[in-house]
Amino acid sequence: MPSERKPLVWITGAGGLIGRYLLQSAPRWASDYRAQGLTRAELDLTNPSALAAAFERQQPDVVIHCAALSRTKDCERDPDAARRINVDATAQLADLARDRPFLFVSSAEVFDGGKGWYDEADAPAPINVYGATKLAAERIILQNVGHTVVRIVLTAGTSLLHDRSFVEDMCRAARAGSFLTLYADEFRCPLPAGVIARAIWELICGGRTGLYHLGGRERLSRWEIGQLLLEWFPELQGRLVKGSSRDHTGAPRPADLSLSTTKIQHVLSFPIPGMQSWLGERRGRGDDLWDYPVP
Ligand SMILES: NC(=O)c1ccc[n+]([C@@H]2O[C@H](COP(=O)([O-])OP(=O)(O)OC[C@H]3O[C@@H](n4cnc5c(N)ncnc54)[C@H](OP(=O)(O)O)[C@@H]3O)[C@@H](O)[C@H]2O)c1
Repeated sequence: MPSERKPLVWITGAGGLIGRYLLQSAPRWASDYRAQGLTRAELDLTNPSALAAAFERQQPDVVIHCAALSRTKDCERDPDAARRINVDATAQLADLARDRPFLFVSSAEVFDGGKGWYDEADAPAPINVYGATKLAAERIILQNVGHTVVRIVLTAGTSLLHDRSFVEDMCRAARAGSFLTLYADEFRCPLPAGVIARAIWELICGGRTGLYHLGGRERLSRWEIGQLLLEWFPELQGRLVKGSSRDHTGAPRPADLSLSTTKIQHVLSFPIPGMQSWLGERRGRGDDLWDYPVP
């Protein structure tokens, strides 16, 4: 099909970590679509009239919404800014896209982290501003049965300016001479950004709607994650310090955000990996560590 006749997919937050992987992997996983990334410089989503005008002009057939104030600390520092982009802009975009597919990337931070292995039926109970804004947006979006919410956890990836993913943050801090305290009693189920992008494209291409959890198969502590990364990022050598969340100060952090992926695994064509198995299979490969190779 000629490119201009393919359905147009808007990817918001295209200057960020996951938006970038979605955009670059579109030809691989969604060749029947025409993907267009939107950065903040191109369109500030918190400007309602600019957003409405751009939507009216371009009439995207599908929207994948990644734009957000995504750092917990930034949301605590400025809850109003967090609400404007994470809730208000999301609500407007979902309303503009009310009659077409709309996929919102949400977060396991909607949970309090008290039990782990959360599934889609578990009751959310956010303990920080970021989680509260993501949950408020989810509730608006899920009123539309044609729309989709995907909750993800810790994402490893390479961003344009190397300043977005937790791995990049760790490496930058280590290179600057800092020591990194990693909690041995805080658990996540990290996934590479390339896996998340592939899964999202499969949800879009398969017309999947409703709520899905997408996390890595392995539940790992922050300390264990750091140990795994040592082999790949030598700058971390000698810089990791084992700690406990009991000593944490600052924005509240859920202790265990592992996610059950039974529901999404049923609709995906590939097995969701764990971080450890993913890295094990990447040994000796020269490509982006966090991208999904062409099968
Ligand atoms: N990465 C993770 O570990 C993780 C975990 C759970 C959930 N999520 C969710 O996944 C989604 C994507 O995350 P990510 O890691 O790719 O985040 P990211 O790297 O911070 O990217 C978010 C993007 O949104 C853009 N943005 C912010 N405010 C905007 C506005 N007013 N108008 C237009 N664009 C705006 C940012 O622009 P600037 O570049 O100008 O700041 C940034 O490029 C987010 O919804 C996030 O909450 C991520």
